[in-house]
Amino acid sequence: MKISNFLQSLLFSAIALLLVSSCGSVENSGSQGSSTSQFAVVVHGGAGYIKNLPPEVEKRYEEGLQNALNRAYAVLEQGGSAVAAVEAAIRYMEDDSIFNAGRGSVLTNKGGVEMDASIMDGKTLNAGAVARVKHIKNPISAARLVMDSCRHVFLVGDGAEEFALEYGLQLMPEEYFILEKRKKQLKRIHSKQASLQKDWDVLRKYGTVGCVAMDKNGNLAAGTSTGGMMNKRYGRVGDSPIIGAGTYADNQTCAVSATGTGENFIRTAAAFRVSALMQYLNKPLDEALRLSIEKMESTGGDGGFIGIDKNGHISWYFNTEGMFRGYKTSSGEQKIEMYHPDYYKK
Ligand code: GLY
Repeated sequence: MKISNFLQSLLFSAIALLLVSSCGSVENSGSQGSSTSQFAVVVHGGAGYIKNLPPEVEKRYEEGLQNALNRAYAVLEQGGSAVAAVEAAIRYMEDDSIFNAGRGSVLTNKGGVEMDASIMDGKTLNAGAVARVKHIKNPISAARLVMDSCRHVFLVGDGAEEFALEYGLQLMPEEYFILEKRKKQLKRIHSKQASLQKDWDVLRKYGTVGCVAMDKNGNLAAGTSTGGMMNKRYGRVGDSPIIGAGTYADNQTCAVSATGTGENFIRTAAAFRVSALMQYLNKPLDEALRLSIEKMESTGGDGGFIGIDKNGHISWYFNTEGMFRGYKTSSGEQKIEMYHPDYYKK
């Protein structure tokens, strides 16, 4: 390349960089990663309109994320697999009613719960998923059971529940999942009285939970679980149980879990896109996450990812006001965050 052309392209790159950063629509926390930790876990509890939360709400989420991290970390510390760690963290969040997964799931337009979950093992590319389950206490364990004990990858509805029951998973009555606050929220939405002030966590928050982990053997895993989106049409399935949309893990690249407007993550094969960008274009995880979210955003969606790459580098990326997120590594680092450091209003 001629020097003048070279200088010109350098100038264009600098201008492009300035434009991107002045838009401020991106948040990149890639520098928080660690490539030295022997094992590590990252969790999320949803993304969306998460800003200026009351201290007591912040505290509840912090506790929830910390407990989930601790569960997974204990598994990894004892030499357990990344898959087992992911399942442990997500089980915790499914039982904690502050999160939109398991108990506390949001409601369909008919007032019921329909939960989705998936898990993937980066070592084998084995995967399991369930969707539209209404009684399984821990859908992530059902997803793992499908992965470990079924010749299929994806079971839905009654078939998934019968399978879970056959293998001794705990089923609960629908009332266990349906909280009073969710009924009230749905009522307000149906009567068009919902307000961002009161109903922020369903109107513009995508409260899916997810976890990615690397174990002592360097194996990666990812999992995602959700009640979906409030007032979703009954029968709707989002990205969380779809391998390659909301969840993906491959030891050759990374493990990622998504939260956001599921339809857009499905349309853009968002989770697999991250892995493909790394594998085929040698993009680092930070950039791959950003590019995938930008593609998803270009179809009109909102949300974010957590990720860990094959070297244990941790990253997250989202285009919303906040994302409940945290990590814990064997090198002693840990962090829990909620807000976007410099979100600009679109
Ligand atoms: N991302 C969760 C859903 O759309 O169902």
